[in-house]
Amino acid sequence: MDNSLLEKAKLYELEAEKKISDIERPELHFSARTGWMNDPNGFSFCHGKYHLFYQYYPYDTHWGPMHWGHAASSDLICWEYLPVALAPDMVYDCEGCFSGSAVELQDGRHLIMYTAVSRENDKSDNNVQQQCLAIGDGVRYEKYENNPVIKSTDVPEDFSIYDFRDPKLIKVADGSYLSLIGSMKADRDGQVLLYTSKDGFCWSFKSILATNGHRFGTMWECPDFFELDGKWVLLISPTEMQASDMEYPNGHGTLCLMGEYDAITGKFTEESDQAVDYGIDFYAMQTVKAPDGRQIMIGWLQNWDTLNIRPDGCKWFGQMSIPRELSVVNGRLCQSPIRELLNYRQNEVRHEGVISDEELSIRGIEGRVIDMTINVSSVENDLSFFDVKLACDGHFYTELKYDFAESILKLSRMHSGIGIAGLHESCCKVDRDGESIDFRIILDRYSVEVFACGGRYVLSMAIWTEPTAGGISFAAKGKANIDVVKYDIVSHGVDCDFGDEYGNIQCEE
Ligand code: FRU
Repeated sequence: MDNSLLEKAKLYELEAEKKISDIERPELHFSARTGWMNDPNGFSFCHGKYHLFYQYYPYDTHWGPMHWGHAASSDLICWEYLPVALAPDMVYDCEGCFSGSAVELQDGRHLIMYTAVSRENDKSDNNVQQQCLAIGDGVRYEKYENNPVIKSTDVPEDFSIYDFRDPKLIKVADGSYLSLIGSMKADRDGQVLLYTSKDGFCWSFKSILATNGHRFGTMWECPDFFELDGKWVLLISPTEMQASDMEYPNGHGTLCLMGEYDAITGKFTEESDQAVDYGIDFYAMQTVKAPDGRQIMIGWLQNWDTLNIRPDGCKWFGQMSIPRELSVVNGRLCQSPIRELLNYRQNEVRHEGVISDEELSIRGIEGRVIDMTINVSSVENDLSFFDVKLACDGHFYTELKYDFAESILKLSRMHSGIGIAGLHESCCKVDRDGESIDFRIILDRYSVEVFACGGRYVLSMAIWTEPTAGGISFAAKGKANIDVVKYDIVSHGVDCDFGDEYGNIQCEE
């Protein structure tokens, strides 16, 4: 093993992060320590802490040979960066350590399974994808001597060995393990393959858990699978989706399939489908089961198609969504920002019963790093739309607009100052309860996330308007009753240093 690649990355990130001030980062969203970040990886709970790894290329703000960055947290809001955990330093992963997951083993070791990418042979340009392990203590990780543990020869006939990635490890109650792997058949039909293991190290193929049938895109990336509120939920990030009404847009998308799981046959029976997030910037989501039973999801708050849309000279690229608590309510996946966020709220401003039928600002309702809840209803049954403009500076703004007649919710960065290729408006059809509609808006320096109707519909979007743009205004056509509560969110400066346990991390000699 060429240890120097990992050591080089550890030293590099320690120096490079010093050049990024807190104010240049999101306040409460996790961002790359330095350089580039994509998918969340290895989102897990181990040794009493949450761990988040991520697809990482420290040396540039563009995608490069994939490493695994690492951070840990006690509350999922305040993260401490830990040393980069994996570098592409073996023959079998020299083209990159792609996405994967992690679990705590019975004996307390932290087990990572990731996709190792390597050249098929000297004469081929094709990259083969195989699954490998690394074992760690929560800070340092060693690649397993018998890697790869799921080889390209373990792929069922007719399946691609070039698209076989993103294993999700699951601990089963009987002490055994499952690994779900995203895949594609030769005819480009996305699939999830299921492998089983008694000890986490020795794996065998069990079944095809789920099949696309050419409905939702082609390759199925980053599967996740869990039981929640009496249903089995399969999360997938499909590539090359075709737009379908307002549910799925073209391109990389998010998909939630809900149904039943037969553990004997290893088959999932699908009952319903929905998008996970209707905004442009949410992908490759992954979940962790918290010790208190909550299923918590985090996603990459970015879109593969708009990577060049970013501020000039940015020193980091890639942020994660706010971690979200999941639930299934009446057959729908619902999301709400993790409750730990409440600890970071300050300066409550509350107004109830504001009546408006024109553009107005509301005293004290402003700010750029905020958690804001709005409830809107029609006073005289004549409300046709309601609109809130965020991150305004008198010129640029990001707009959330709800059409009461058509029940369509739009989140738009068309006027946010973004370059022409980033102009975008995300829409979804909202089935609201009764006459009112509620929104919870989490606005940070570089993103907005909207949880509508108690979290039944979520839209996430990156925005790059100058962080000083903190104006907020409301508008309505027809008479609207507006209840609004806004908090500033303050997280930097909160002490989340883990002290002796992880503090003062030194690079190994
Ligand atoms: C998803 C993805 C994964 C892959 C990783 C590579 O965004 O394409 O399928 O493992 O990113 O960085």
